Amino acid sequence: MAMIETDRLLLRAPVETDRARFVELFTSEAFMVFTGVLDPVAANDRFDRMLTLAGRIPYGKQPVINRVDGAIVGYTGVDTVEFDGLARLEWGWRFVPKARGRGYASEATAALLDVAGACDSGEVLCIIAADNHASRRVATKTGFRHWKRLNWNGDPSAPTDLFVRPIGAGGPPLLAPDVA
Ligand SMILES: CC(C)(COP(=O)(O)OP(=O)(O)OC[C@H]1O[C@@H](n2cnc3c(N)ncnc32)[C@H](O)[C@@H]1OP(=O)(O)O)[C@@H](O)C(=O)NCCC(=O)NCCS
Repeated sequence: MAMIETDRLLLRAPVETDRARFVELFTSEAFMVFTGVLDPVAANDRFDRMLTLAGRIPYGKQPVINRVDGAIVGYTGVDTVEFDGLARLEWGWRFVPKARGRGYASEATAALLDVAGACDSGEVLCIIAADNHASRRVATKTGFRHWKRLNWNGDPSAPTDLFVRPIGAGGPPLLAPDVA
């Protein structure tokens, strides 16, 4: 299995034995802040989706592992989202509270973006709640550009920033593979 090594972290495609850890994370309010906790069924579905996408896209959401103790501390990579009538690739990142504020999200994301740029060309989207300052900063530090602010699903209580980033030589939006 291809493994990406950074100074402090390892990234690799998710495997079935990661399921218990991800279900634990997806059902944790602290981990799921800003989007909402999943119930165990939805958490398992989300993990199934990670496995499926990772089989199709080398920069699908991947576990990020602390090299010191081997613990999964978060994820980074793309999933898919419907936006403006397109099923687009959307980059996301999420770390456990103890692992935040150490530069891990930027370090892991920059490494996986290198992988993406080596195998694809086009544009990825990134969707961030307007008040999620840490996430906005990760986007900026990893080369995303602010595209526009809108109310997500037209909801004025959900101001949301859209960021975009070229992958490889850039180009039109990168679209979801036929797995959804
Ligand atoms: C967003 C998240 C992934 C960032 O992870 P991280 O490893 O702490 O990120 P990094 O350390 O690489 O970078 C965070 C940057 O935001 C800055 N930051 C953190 N909190 C901030 C705040 N409240 N206001 C402004 N900037 C802030 C940090 O100083 C850092 O910038 P710097 O390197 O210029 O100092 C992490 O906080 C997280 O998992 N949050 C909960 C889930 C989430 O919001 N995911 C994103 C959904 S779009």
